[in-house]
Amino acid sequence: MERKRACVTGGTGYVGSMLVKRLLEKGYAVNATVRRPVNNEKVSHLLDLQVLGDLKLFKANLTEEGSFDDAINGCDFVFHVATPVQLESQDQENDIIKPSINGMLNVLKSCVKAKTVRRVVCTSSGSAVSLNRLTGTGHVVDEESWTDIEYLTSEKPPVWGYAVSKVLAEKAAWKFAEENNLNLITLAPVLIAGPSLTPEVPWSVRLALSLLIGNEHMINSLKRKQLISGSISLVHVEDVCRAHIFVAENESASGRYICCAVNTCVPELAKFLSERYPPYNVLTDFGDFPENPKLSISSEKLIKAGFSYNYGIEEMYDESVEYLRAVGMLSN
Ligand SMILES: NC(=O)c1ccc[n+]([C@@H]2O[C@H](COP(=O)([O-])OP(=O)(O)OC[C@H]3O[C@@H](n4cnc5c(N)ncnc54)[C@H](OP(=O)(O)O)[C@@H]3O)[C@@H](O)[C@H]2O)c1
Repeated sequence: MERKRACVTGGTGYVGSMLVKRLLEKGYAVNATVRRPVNNEKVSHLLDLQVLGDLKLFKANLTEEGSFDDAINGCDFVFHVATPVQLESQDQENDIIKPSINGMLNVLKSCVKAKTVRRVVCTSSGSAVSLNRLTGTGHVVDEESWTDIEYLTSEKPPVWGYAVSKVLAEKAAWKFAEENNLNLITLAPVLIAGPSLTPEVPWSVRLALSLLIGNEHMINSLKRKQLISGSISLVHVEDVCRAHIFVAENESASGRYICCAVNTCVPELAKFLSERYPPYNVLTDFGDFPENPKLSISSEKLIKAGFSYNYGIEEMYDESVEYLRAVGMLSN
């Protein structure tokens, strides 16, 4: 049987490199796109994966029209994972929002040109689903729900540009797919934890483990995340990669899928972490900070389609702690 070929955009990233690894292990040939193929420091972890199978690197940039043509040509599946992540940029419109939408359209245009692509899976985000003005607690959001752009652009909470970029890029993708008869799935993972192949510890892992690391700036970001997103919702990187491949291979899959294993909030998470990892003296007193999440993000659709999560909160944090100990960010 001929080997299937998949393209992964953003192959150097946290999710991208792990997805490349998983695809190679499953016997796929992989074309991974990177911005700077000659920058050894940024691509060496990807080059190391070439021992696992047929992995080719292609130079491509979201901001350059036609940039993805060569990487996508001849592929059966495309996983569009890359996204601009200059979260603290002073110009969120030009550094994040515009390149994210234009990059999405560049990738999808290359898919149409290739004529071989059976399905495109685009990585969206929980940030495109749950940010809104809802008040109270106990809300459940699912794939019908979209983040409220008007709320973000008028109130501009931290990292508003990233959330806006994920909403607008995903909506642009759905419009383009309909107009061009492209088989599209979007997958929206929530905050991702678990080990990484990248040379640096990913931002999302540092955020998810901030209560253990004890970094005040990141703990404040985690608290803000609960207030803005409505919950601290988590998923393990390996489940995220498995879910990408699951929705690509599952013929009957369609539409949007949320990928979320755990819904919690800062005080509840802190209690869990302080009991499970006593040496790290996790702060558990948050004064009058909300003790319950405003909402939970439902992954029922993915589960009903036959997907099961391998990592609950214990396994997710055990592996993440082990990873941070191995890289020296947590003491042994
Ligand atoms: N991590 C999370 O908690 C989380 C949660 C929900 C959704 N997601 C989504 O998952 C995807 C991957 O995120 P991640 O956490 O793996 O982020 P990451 O590690 O920062 O990876 C981002 C990737 O995008 C590439 N990229 C950025 N700007 C680019 C451009 N102009 N042209 C081409 N490539 C560009 C980066 O390449 P360089 O290496 O060259 O910079 C990198 O490979 C994103 O779509 C993100 O929105 C992540």
